[in-house]
Amino acid sequence: TNPQKKSAPQPSDPCKGCREIIDNVIERYSQTWKKKEDNYQNFRSQLNSKCRGFNKAIITQANTPVGSKLVYDGEKRRSLQVTPAIFSTFVKEHPFSNKTWGTCAVVGNGGILTNSSCGQTIDSAQFVIRCNLPPLKNGYEKHVGIKTDLVTANPSILVEKYGALMGHRRPFVDSLYTYGNSLLLLPAFSFGHNTPVSLRAAYTIEDFGSPIKPVFFNPEYLQRLAVFWRSQGLRAVRLSTGIIMASLALELCADVHLYGFWPFSTHPHGFHPLTNHYYDDRKTKMKFHAMPAEFDLLLRLHSQGVLRLHLGDCR
Ligand code: CTP
Repeated sequence: TNPQKKSAPQPSDPCKGCREIIDNVIERYSQTWKKKEDNYQNFRSQLNSKCRGFNKAIITQANTPVGSKLVYDGEKRRSLQVTPAIFSTFVKEHPFSNKTWGTCAVVGNGGILTNSSCGQTIDSAQFVIRCNLPPLKNGYEKHVGIKTDLVTANPSILVEKYGALMGHRRPFVDSLYTYGNSLLLLPAFSFGHNTPVSLRAAYTIEDFGSPIKPVFFNPEYLQRLAVFWRSQGLRAVRLSTGIIMASLALELCADVHLYGFWPFSTHPHGFHPLTNHYYDDRKTKMKFHAMPAEFDLLLRLHSQGVLRLHLGDCR
């Protein structure tokens, strides 16, 4: 072996400049967090009036009748007219109308949750939101919990892991049992190619009598939310699922707690290397998302006492 030859960088090598970012975060991350009711109410009412997630986040038979035009939020020139067949896959009533939860936990998939022992704390929330059908069993429960009231599914997962639901569908249905009778939220009308696979997911769930309840993001809500965050200074091609769910939680819950949000490859306290997810080291698509910039905005809300970001272990 050539001693001069450097070993290839490991996927989870501590990032360059991470130390400065982390020092800055620690400075802004107050350990004695306190909710600031005025700031929370103010931010919440801005979201309520500009995005209307409480009754617009999800497509229903009430807010999207047959014949309405859905404009894809990821492909502005594409739209779809709602046919009776598509309409029949919509839930009747909005699951969040006239509802407020006390404590909500929004669980991102960051590697910061590895060995965090945050499972019990997360599960003690009244409403638990998870992103992208994450694994919860086989040792992860202790650190991420198991309770799920809402879980999102990016259709790319259905394509990669379940053959786009074109062949056998039981493996998909079996995998959903982990999430019990939660809501399964799909961005069916964000890009044209999302629609057929999302509809197949809904049909599969119905045909197999799975207890999970498929629902679709309203593209109009996603569009309004993108405009809202742009007005807060966020420049990203697409919002990440995590910031979308944190925004929705702020409309629906009195106390919003975020776990697993840390888009850096070094732990903020132990400074040890982290994988991107708590279950693998697959990287985020940086050309779509601006997760460090999103994190910065979430940290700002933490400092303002609007929501609480958890970066430490829960022991
Ligand atoms: N997340 C984070 N830090 C990480 C990994 C994820 O803050 N190291 C947050 C992001 O807000 C992300 C969410 O957790 O949206 C869910 O993670 P993941 O499943 O990795 O999302 P992506 O597949 O990267 O992207 P998308 O947001 O498009 O679903």
